Order: sequence, then structure tokens, then C-alpha cells
Amino acid sequence: MKIDTFKVERWMNDFEDRAVYNLGETCIDSLSLEELLKLCGKKPEEYFAELAETKLAYSHIFGSPELKKGICSLYGNLKPENVVPTHGAVGANNMIITTLISREDNMVCVLPTYQQHYSIPASIGAEVRLLKLTMENAYLPDLEELRRLVDKNTKMITINNPNNPTGSLIPPDMLKEIAKIARSADAYLLSDEVYRSISEDGSYMPSVLDVYEKGISVGSMSKSFSLAGLRMGWIAANDPEVIEQVKERRDYDTISCGVLDDKLSALALANKEAIIERNRNIVRKNRAVLDEWVNKTPEVRYVRPAAGTTALVYYDKDMPSYDLCKKLIETKGVLFTPGSCFEMEGAVRIGYAFDSKTLREGLDKFTEFLREE
Ligand SMILES: Cc1ncc(COP(=O)(O)O)c(C=O)c1O
Repeated sequence: MKIDTFKVERWMNDFEDRAVYNLGETCIDSLSLEELLKLCGKKPEEYFAELAETKLAYSHIFGSPELKKGICSLYGNLKPENVVPTHGAVGANNMIITTLISREDNMVCVLPTYQQHYSIPASIGAEVRLLKLTMENAYLPDLEELRRLVDKNTKMITINNPNNPTGSLIPPDMLKEIAKIARSADAYLLSDEVYRSISEDGSYMPSVLDVYEKGISVGSMSKSFSLAGLRMGWIAANDPEVIEQVKERRDYDTISCGVLDDKLSALALANKEAIIERNRNIVRKNRAVLDEWVNKTPEVRYVRPAAGTTALVYYDKDMPSYDLCKKLIETKGVLFTPGSCFEMEGAVRIGYAFDSKTLREGLDKFTEFLREE
């Protein structure tokens, strides 16, 4: 099966190690094991003694009851039997698309988004119809355009909410409208929700599962919960038929997730308030730093991100984004991600969800770079 290069992942693989100022990262300041235990009110020695007794078996094939309980707590009304743990959200996206999409289907996918959503169905031979998100629409889907793209052969609509790279967040009423359009075609609505759960004001962020019976949510411990090293993600779906089909496929490529990853994810989710509060403070503070920099730098423009951990920033310099980002890391040590990785030329993605000092210094270095001949 031929598949396009996954541009953002290739970029990070090639350049992340060279970063002095890593503004390419999308996870909220990753936690060490010790920090996690502290946030969860556990004494490391006691917890490690407990871990030492854990049998390193396949364990709960479809996730421990504690893990599923924790995942369900992130949604309005999700039952444990409607959750399937996966190898990260990357495993979840791959599994759900390869399970449900075949070459006779068409699917509609927003752009920019995480490339799996369009390159995997294209590799299967399905027709992919791209719904472009524009700065003029604050990177929210144009519903008229969506109606035009959907027809009776549309098997799935795919959104990424909150969106990577733009940081846009679909308002609840618009999400309901998107569900209505999906319903009119009897299509699945897949929402990659890895950046969900950290709202600016602490309010509940609706999931696709709250608005649509054929909604499918992909989530993970990587971004909002700062635990990418656990490689724990999940598929949650309202339709039991979808869950059954996913389980059938999962036997072929996963068997089960890691028993230690399951345990630590369950612990984190049982203490999610502490992690969410830490992370809300980080994103709120750094969004302000980013916004202040954009406002004082006439060479750049953007739509202020409403959620997530990244922003798409357009720059005034006559240089393609890949060349610009390469020169920037080589000369200033600042890692951004080229807009071309998201088919958004003339822009860069800036990840801002870690320490404010690195962010400030990295942005100032970029200003210097933009002003050089
Ligand atoms: C929108 C989106 N989905 C999925 C993933 C993969 O995340 P995970 O670490 O859970 O596999 C990423 C990682 O950048 C992402 O941005």
C-alpha cells in the first residue's frame, strides 16, 4: 500500500533534536513520572512498590475498568463498553479509518488537519474531498461548502476539534449543524479530539459524542494530559456496531495496550482535575505571551487560538515555509513547523504550551530573523 510521506512527523523526526527553542512541540509541557505522581498525591516509593508487583502480561485486552472509567469521565454520557484503547491517537485514527473506509467511498476532511485523516483514506483508494479552513472564517468550517461536498456516498466527515495547527474550536451550535449534515448522508462524523478538555474558562468542551449518534471521538493521553510517552489513545463511539468492527481489526494490529501505560493513564485520569488545572494555566499564560508578540510584530499575523496548543502564524518574508524553518533552526536554534506540512504555505505552526521563557526567547529570535536581510 503506497502512502504519502507524513510531512509533519518527518519534519519533527529530522529536526527536533537540533532545537534550542523547541516551538515545534504540541504536547502541553510533558510530565515526568515523578511530577505525575506528585500531582496525583502519590508517594513515589509506595507507588513503585505497587507497580513492582504488576504482572507484565497482556492484561485487560480492551483496557482495565479503571482506565475506561477515566476515559468515560471526559465525556457527557459515554459507557465503558463504547471505548477501545489504542496505541496513541495515531493508532486510533489509523484503526478507525482502515476499519470503516473502503475504496468505493468518499469522505470529507477539513484542511489543515493531522495528515492521517486524508492520506490514509487516499492510500486506500477512497475519494477525499477537502474542506479548506481559511483565516477569513477563523479556521471554522464553511457549512455551505460542507453541504456541497457531502453526497449519498459520503461515508465519513472528519474534523479535528480543537484544530491542529490553527487552534480553532468549533462552537457547540456549529458542531450540531455539522452533525446534521452528516446525518443527512448517514455518514460517520469522526472528530479527532486529542486537544480537548482544556478550555480557557474551565467549562466543559462538547465532544462529537454529545451531538451525534454516529459520532466517533479519538482521544489520547499525549496532548491535554502531557503523557505522550505512555502511548495511550482511544476510540469512543456511540454506535456499538462501530466498536465491534474496530475490535475485529484490533486483534490484527494491537492485541492490547501496555499494562503499565494502562495503569498510569488510569491514575492520571482519576486525578484529571489537577492535571487539567496545571495545563490550563500553562496554555492561558503562554497564549497571552504569543498574542502580545503577534501584536507588537507587524511582520506576522494570525487568528488568536481559542484552544489547543498551536497557532498558525503567517509571516512577511519572501521564502517558502520549509526553507524558512530550516534556516531558522540552523541559524537561531528555533524550531517551528513549516506551514507546508499542512498545505498552508507562507505560514508556520508555533507550539506554545511549555515554559514561557523559552517561548519568549524563541519568538524574539524569530523577530530578529524576520528583520535580517
Ligand atoms: C490532531 C492529532 N491527532 C493525533 C495525534 C497523535 O497523537 P498521539 O501521541 O496520541 O498518537 C496528534 C499528534 O500530534 C495530533 O496533533
